[in-house]
Amino acid sequence: MSFTLVEAKAADAADPLRGLRDRFHLPEGVIYLDGNSLGPLPKAVAAHQRAVVEQEWGEGLIRSWNDADWINAPQRVGARIAPLIGAKPNEVIVTDTTSVNLFKLVAAAARSGRKTVLSESGNFHTDLYIASGVADLLGLTLDIAPRAEVEQRIGADTAVLLLTHVHYKTAERFDMARITAKAKRAGVTTVWDLSHSAGAVPLHLNDAGAELAVGCGYKYLNGGPGAPAFLYIAGHLQEKLLSPLRGWMGHAEPFAFIDDYRPAAGIDRFMAGTPPILGLAALESALEAFDGVTMERLWSKSRAMFDVFVGLMEARCPAFRCITPRGEEQRGSHISFAHGNAFEICQALIAEGVIGDFRAPDVIRFGLTPLYLGFEEIWRAVDILSGIMTSESWRDPKYAVRGKVT
Ligand SMILES: Cc1ncc(COP(=O)(O)O)c(C=O)c1O
Repeated sequence: MSFTLVEAKAADAADPLRGLRDRFHLPEGVIYLDGNSLGPLPKAVAAHQRAVVEQEWGEGLIRSWNDADWINAPQRVGARIAPLIGAKPNEVIVTDTTSVNLFKLVAAAARSGRKTVLSESGNFHTDLYIASGVADLLGLTLDIAPRAEVEQRIGADTAVLLLTHVHYKTAERFDMARITAKAKRAGVTTVWDLSHSAGAVPLHLNDAGAELAVGCGYKYLNGGPGAPAFLYIAGHLQEKLLSPLRGWMGHAEPFAFIDDYRPAAGIDRFMAGTPPILGLAALESALEAFDGVTMERLWSKSRAMFDVFVGLMEARCPAFRCITPRGEEQRGSHISFAHGNAFEICQALIAEGVIGDFRAPDVIRFGLTPLYLGFEEIWRAVDILSGIMTSESWRDPKYAVRGKVT
């Protein structure tokens, strides 16, 4: 593919979403292709965070639980995420971490008398670890099947099917509507992990018949490092499920201070402890970056960026093997390549200002995030990578040093 720098600049000039980039702080000299792991800082976050810290906390003190409506932040921020995932406002809350939310939903859904929790081998490890913890606690078996066999393994013994919608490593995407329907026909509830989907691909949870889901706040939603996660429960299930983590914030009357547990109405019962207000405030203002733009429009730019990126990589960096499916319905918004020296190459790229990330043992991922990335950046990223491959600068031993976070 001969996509030139001139064409890249023209594509940026013609891009109707180009202005959205101004909503973000992007460091000078950096091409940020890791928004699938940690979104960059939306400008609205810094100002709002200052107000929450200095005014609401500093001046309002404990009064702000009511006066600044801190107490309703989990529901309020959840309602802002709802349209991005095709859910109703009262079907999403922001609470805890993705891992903890997985625990709550898998355990709640597993109480059907059936004996197996089914998931995919190579699923994000926290999903499998959490599922194994639930299985141990409830005396169930964890069945981890190869991706191609997961659907066939859904059976009369399956209590819960736990799948990640867009795979963290390969970006492969499951067909949510078809699999959810198939599981339902077998009497099985599916829990979807949307960590690499929310804010990345169009999602229609209600239309797809999805019943339970969780997702990250700090990836495509740009809520900041360790942002609280979201949890989705379809309306018809909300009064039927109970959280295994029964904290006071999930109680019908948290401020009655009574000994007996009575679950709150609706999805609120899936809260446990005191909400992390600073993290919620950051995520709330980060979500403003999606104002006025639909996921369909973002996805159409993401698709165009994918085509350009994959074409340039094939033409200029042939040593990399693309492991992300080409079909737009079969993948998410990041693109991954396998290479035996992926770690060192990724470090050399970062040293030259192109930030992607490495996933063991041999994968480099690049997040194509249409809210703030342009075609020129993509062109330059591949140009720099091609230079690194030609010069073999990645062989410098300093690029083989591994930090605690890789
Ligand atoms: C699919 C998936 N689930 C969960 C997580 C992380 O969960 P937590 O936010 O609890 O660390 C990640 C993080 O990359 C992920 O990719």
